[in-house]
Amino acid sequence: MILANSLPGFRIEINPPKVDLADLNSLFEIVGMGTRSVDAMREAIKSSTEIVVVYNDRDILVGFGRLISDGAYYGTLWDIAVHPNFQKLGIGKMIVARLLAKCRCLQLRMVGLFTALHNRRFYESLGFTMLDYIHAMTLDLDQFEH
Ligand SMILES: CC(C)(COP(=O)(O)OP(=O)(O)OC[C@H]1O[C@@H](n2cnc3c(N)ncnc32)[C@H](O)[C@@H]1OP(=O)(O)O)[C@@H](O)C(=O)NCCC(=O)NCCS
Repeated sequence: MILANSLPGFRIEINPPKVDLADLNSLFEIVGMGTRSVDAMREAIKSSTEIVVVYNDRDILVGFGRLISDGAYYGTLWDIAVHPNFQKLGIGKMIVARLLAKCRCLQLRMVGLFTALHNRRFYESLGFTMLDYIHAMTLDLDQFEH
């Protein structure tokens, strides 16, 4: 689905059939999210509940975000990124708003995300609350032995 007029000068695509993964990798790299394996990222996109891709008027990929959900209870937002040259224009807010619309459509009970502390205000402006009594935990699966 292509949404043309949500933000003048930008084209928003929801679940496009094809995403240029080299361009997506460039976006991740320039915002400091590291690069990904193209094959793994293709699989990750295919398995995501919803992806949002934003292009500028020269067809350059300038924004991205995705939702992963079980379709009933929980949703998590991942890989929200806007090219530095196009930040503070409302693109990030629009990407998250689209993903939250999908969460509402699915009637999810809870949506969450992991982010650096300096993004706190951005997500608070979108209605998220930081839970001071919860800490993120991760496990490096390569190091884990049963
Ligand atoms: C975080 C990010 C996605 C925000 O995208 P963006 O397009 O610049 O955000 P918007 O223009 O939609 O900003 C929406 C609001 O948040 C504010 N905001 C944006 N980035 C902010 C930041 N880092 N800190 C504080 N406020 C911020 C804006 O001023 C704006 O406020 P307003 O609605 O009162 O005017 C973008 O800065 C980014 O890609 N950062 C690097 C990657 C990253 O950290 N992603 C998050 C991973 S969870």
